[in-house]
Amino acid sequence: MNPSLADLTRRLGGIAYGGDYNPEQWPRETWAEDARLMRRAGVNLVTLGVFSWSRIQPRPGVRTWDLLDEVMDLLHRHGIAVDLATPTAAPPPWFTRMHPDARPVTASGTRLAQGSRQVFCPSSPAYARAADALVAELASRYADHPALALWHVHNEWGNHNALCYCDTSAGAFRAWLRDRYKTLDAVNEAWGTDFWSQRYGEWEEIDPPRDTTAFRNPGQELDYRRFSSDALLERHRAETALLRRAAPHIPVTTNLMGTLEKKVDGYAFAAECDAVSIDHYLPAADPGGHIDLALNADLARGMAAGRPWLLMEHSTSAVNWQPVNVAKRPGETRRNSLTHLARGADGLMFFQWRQSRAGAEKWHSAMLPHAGTDSRVFKEVTALGAELRSLREVAGTHVAGDVAVLFDWHSWWALELQARPSGEFRYLDAVRDWYEALWRLNVTCDVVAPGADLTSYRAVVAPGLYLLSGQDAGNLTRYVERGGHLAVGCFGGVVDAYDRVHPGAHPGALRETLGLVVDEYLPLRPDDEVRLEDGTGVRQWAERVESRGCRTVLGFADGPEGGPARGGPAVTRHDFGQGVGWYTAARLSADALLPVVRALCDEAGVTPAASTPPGVEAVRRVGGKGSYLFLINHTEDTVSVAVDGVGLADAEILEGEARVPPGGVVVVRESTPPGGCGTRRSSAPRGVLA
Ligand code: GAL
Repeated sequence: MNPSLADLTRRLGGIAYGGDYNPEQWPRETWAEDARLMRRAGVNLVTLGVFSWSRIQPRPGVRTWDLLDEVMDLLHRHGIAVDLATPTAAPPPWFTRMHPDARPVTASGTRLAQGSRQVFCPSSPAYARAADALVAELASRYADHPALALWHVHNEWGNHNALCYCDTSAGAFRAWLRDRYKTLDAVNEAWGTDFWSQRYGEWEEIDPPRDTTAFRNPGQELDYRRFSSDALLERHRAETALLRRAAPHIPVTTNLMGTLEKKVDGYAFAAECDAVSIDHYLPAADPGGHIDLALNADLARGMAAGRPWLLMEHSTSAVNWQPVNVAKRPGETRRNSLTHLARGADGLMFFQWRQSRAGAEKWHSAMLPHAGTDSRVFKEVTALGAELRSLREVAGTHVAGDVAVLFDWHSWWALELQARPSGEFRYLDAVRDWYEALWRLNVTCDVVAPGADLTSYRAVVAPGLYLLSGQDAGNLTRYVERGGHLAVGCFGGVVDAYDRVHPGAHPGALRETLGLVVDEYLPLRPDDEVRLEDGTGVRQWAERVESRGCRTVLGFADGPEGGPARGGPAVTRHDFGQGVGWYTAARLSADALLPVVRALCDEAGVTPAASTPPGVEAVRRVGGKGSYLFLINHTEDTVSVAVDGVGLADAEILEGEARVPPGGVVVVRESTPPGGCGTRRSSAPRGVLA
């Protein structure tokens, strides 16, 4: 059996805490101070070596390990464990000079220059050889080092270089297609190449979907995304195999990017890891950034098949890559960190330990900022480190969502290809609106793939699931037939895995389950708004739907010109098998989705994790050791929440009431967990429609 995250937290005696450590940026004298201050801050794990390639291998054929040797020993002496990275995310300048063809090429044919990071083509044999040789030596050198606790493969696979359009990639794409389709006829069929006279007669005629005169073939584009994700996955597998061979007792992870990253299929990479990790950065311009955080944490847990996971990077304050890099407010880092903990993280790490003096990220915050140890940030970091020690019993417990939110990279890719009915309809916006409605009800969700085992969920929501393969459609249909409650967002179930429209009327994959057909999709102009019967305004998207057995729960009041008649279905409900299929024939905001989601949850017997005032998030972790209720106050007032238990850390609980200060978080060890989210019951009581 492979080692797991539990092995790491057992070794650390609780929650992992620390960040990326880049000692190569600092003179040697600083290292001892770093180790001492890490201890003071409560750091027990650091990620080392992510960008060390040019130090380890300053010239071809020369390897110098003294820096890593010394820092590994130093950290070990200070009781700090190491998450040792394969330094393959930043090939050094000598490499690109020696192998200019290994640099990635854009869709318009520009070969990118050295001078940043991830300057390599994912399919380059020269890169693969150089990376594997380095990883093999790193693995055997440190396999038995006492500081080594976790392997960190690469860094954010595909963040900057996932899509390369060079000739090497073209050859690898053809090989991938041959392997997948076997015959050219099958490719022609999948891509619909009879359209615009694109039929291929030889494999060599197929290129990557480079810039061309007009719209590119959507099947080709979609497969190019799959191929590109797979090319990096192959690299990930190769590095992982080398690490496992040298040190089978050490768990392997890689930092995935959740919804920040469209380019690689997160589930595929997560399946190759012993421990799942994600990075999360708050979008500063988004007033609901904390909801984006919760969504990503639930996705990380979904990728980890419900097990605890690691937050590999977040920031102590501002980042440096958004249009305006807003500093975090006092208490915000603690609130963000404890929200990740609430949603199943067993480790909370930052980018990075010491703020850089030079280079592209010197304006990115760190645990130890330019202002030094007397700063607000360092004091908060140190206080958080101490608090996490008092919360260590939470590590290893689980969060169990009652509701599944389906999330799919393939549908994201397909929905946003060229020549769609509306460029305004963005995949993540749809996911976020549904998720936000559930979040506001304090319903804990697992964010999982459409092919996941759904049998334990009381309800399933499917936003933006434009692409739905026949197999995944079967999964959803069986779920409803057997008594599940499924809600499908507009423009869902439309195309198959190749972006070909499912035959017959829309939504071909789910017509029968939902008991309706879509007569026509009616995207709205940017300024248009139509109304529903309850006064809700709808922007972006409406549909003219006809019932084939469903009943209208909410109708349109005034459709777009030529659109649905007054009373025409906007929200529908259909009894199917032993379950129910809901559909929204309009792009509804989180506000508008709230009553829909409430009705879905009532009927499915979903209850919130706790009853709290608006703006107060409640999530429960449960395990052999106990049940822990996290209350996270996003409002500007102190709130009281009825609880049954004792507060951990310095939480204030008086006569069964937890007082949560503005922006604060309280963790309660519960005496008896109530039957809310996180404590799935075996039979769903039938509720009443709101
Ligand atoms: C991540 C990356 C880190 C650092 C960080 C800054 O995407 O893994 O190396 O660049 O962003 O926010």
